[in-house]
Amino acid sequence: MLKILVPLFASAVLAANVYAADPITIKFSHVVTDNTPKGQAALKFKELAEKKLPGLVKIEVFPNSQLFGDGKEMEALLLGDVQIIAPSLSKFDRFSKQVQVFDLPFIFKDPEAVDRFQSSPDGQALLKSMEKKGILGLAYWHNGMKQLSANKDILLPDSVKGLKFRIQPSALLEAIFKQLGASPQKMAFSEVYQGLQTGVVDGQENTWSNIYSKKFYEAQKTILETNHGIVDYMVVVSPSFWNKLPPNIRDGLNSAMSEATTYGNALAWSKNQEAKEKIIAANKAKVVPLNKEQLAIWKAKMQPVWKQFEPQIGAGLIKAAAAASN
Ligand code: LMR
Repeated sequence: MLKILVPLFASAVLAANVYAADPITIKFSHVVTDNTPKGQAALKFKELAEKKLPGLVKIEVFPNSQLFGDGKEMEALLLGDVQIIAPSLSKFDRFSKQVQVFDLPFIFKDPEAVDRFQSSPDGQALLKSMEKKGILGLAYWHNGMKQLSANKDILLPDSVKGLKFRIQPSALLEAIFKQLGASPQKMAFSEVYQGLQTGVVDGQENTWSNIYSKKFYEAQKTILETNHGIVDYMVVVSPSFWNKLPPNIRDGLNSAMSEATTYGNALAWSKNQEAKEKIIAANKAKVVPLNKEQLAIWKAKMQPVWKQFEPQIGAGLIKAAAAASN
């Protein structure tokens, strides 16, 4: 009798332990506000993951650079202090030269072209291109097209000569602003508003959603509708964390990620349009559309950066990305 009871007892204890185990806590840190495409997608991911894996995972979302800002989040990921981050694609150039393809000026004519390239075999391969460096991409999340703003009237490339522009930490973005004869300043996202307000920088480039949610428009005179580049994100984890997860948890998280991606990406365009309308209604910065000829001048001025970065990015990849706009 005892012989039967002991294993029964042991398995009951084991089962109790399994059920009593604490959920796996996953910290997801990002730098924008909740009411943005990335902020909304991150919250949706939390909701879905906790629903699909009840009691097994706890997702803690930290928006607004609360936990880690731009400067620290990659290191924090590599050290295991945070498990998921979603930096803009411009912030990976230390880890991948190829990912810089997304920052080539005017390479994508609209967000649909960006989506087509990201979904293509070349785009999907980039998600895995940094695995050896400790960064694994799970998904691309959309924000939108970048606009150029400044604290004075600007219209054509000559008008930005000598101005200081905040840029994300990216050699390619730096090259674009040098090409314009402006002075690029790398600065963390959380410091941009103050930088614009105090005149440390004269201008910046970003999406409507970021310009609105971080109030950049309050400190700018003109926002030029250039659509000259994109801000999109790669949601990344460290492979050492990810590959050690129990398979059922990884599957549940993958499924939550894929649904949150569809949700957030469907929202990105309207969030940006909404932000643009609110900026116009606030009547603080002047929103200036550009006609075809003016856009062609901007494009021609920035174009040399393509050749400059071709050896790093690869001609084939540039061709594939550009083809998504055809
Ligand atoms: C920026 O630094 O301007 C953006 O990458 C911020 C963001 O995450 O959208």
